[in-house]
Amino acid sequence: MKWMVRMQYSSWNTENRMGALSTKHFIKLEGAPKEDIQHLIDTGLMFREVLNRPIKKVPSLIGKNVVNLFFENSTRTRMSFELAEKRLSADVTNFSASSSSLNKGESFKDTIQNIHAMKMDCVVMRHPVPGSCHQLTKYVDAIVINAGDGKHEHPTQAMLDMMSLYEKFGYLKGLKVAIIGDISHSRVALSNIHGLITMGAEVTLCGPPHLIPIGIKELGVSVSHNVDEVVEWADALNILRIQRERMGVGLIPSVREYRDFFGITQERLDRHKKEIVIMHPGPMNRGVEIDSSVADGDQAIILDQVLNGVAVRMSILYSLLGPEEEGKDEKK
Ligand code: CP
Repeated sequence: MKWMVRMQYSSWNTENRMGALSTKHFIKLEGAPKEDIQHLIDTGLMFREVLNRPIKKVPSLIGKNVVNLFFENSTRTRMSFELAEKRLSADVTNFSASSSSLNKGESFKDTIQNIHAMKMDCVVMRHPVPGSCHQLTKYVDAIVINAGDGKHEHPTQAMLDMMSLYEKFGYLKGLKVAIIGDISHSRVALSNIHGLITMGAEVTLCGPPHLIPIGIKELGVSVSHNVDEVVEWADALNILRIQRERMGVGLIPSVREYRDFFGITQERLDRHKKEIVIMHPGPMNRGVEIDSSVADGDQAIILDQVLNGVAVRMSILYSLLGPEEEGKDEKK
């Protein structure tokens, strides 16, 4: 299987940095400058403080209209975007494909053009088709934020993962991060790879050979098929879900065999007797890629990731839509 989902379009305008970020839209971390990633982490940490206050709301996006378009299921991303928008005082509209006129045969383009006519400032979209968020930028003037486009990227998830690592360790450069599991079907993996490599982290991918794309080492990562070696090496494990819905049939012989070879079990961690940070983007298959005792244990920062998801999405929305961004239409 070849690594197919590298998009050829431009999003980041590194030559012409304007305002908080060098991009109008937030579609991918491929090509994102280090300064922009660090800015989003630093601003996210500032918003994390706001989330600890008794009144968790700031007036930064008063008068801005944001629509959340979800064409695929989501718990964390959808809720945290909505919370982030409300914490910033934006006006929020939610669109769910399953209860829309798409079910009466309306096209994606017509749906989007109707939303465009309602004068939205920002569209947050999750869609099963890789490249759909980029396509959306052709149909609307609004700022577009990718909440996951098929197997391509999930850049806001990678931002919250990097913010969580930065919060825990205080640095990303030289940090040893292992991404374990089904890399081939994972937009979380691709966004994390781009972001972490840009920030100077060392990244090792670990999983069954047929779930790691040929050619992936070109992105600057190492590959291992031995999870015990990877646990011994890493400072942090980002454990991915086995995505049975994207796989078709037969890509893992059995759930039990996968757990034996690649599952992060308590027994496996105990064998290594070392400090290691456990991450998972969710949703988890407990007892498959991660044991409950690991997911709920002291080394796990999985629920910190969830809270940081709200903070970093506030950071992204504020950096793209906030007051200092007014009149910065020159960005690509
Ligand atoms: N991590 C993540 O994207 O979770 P959801 O699918 O629940 O949004």
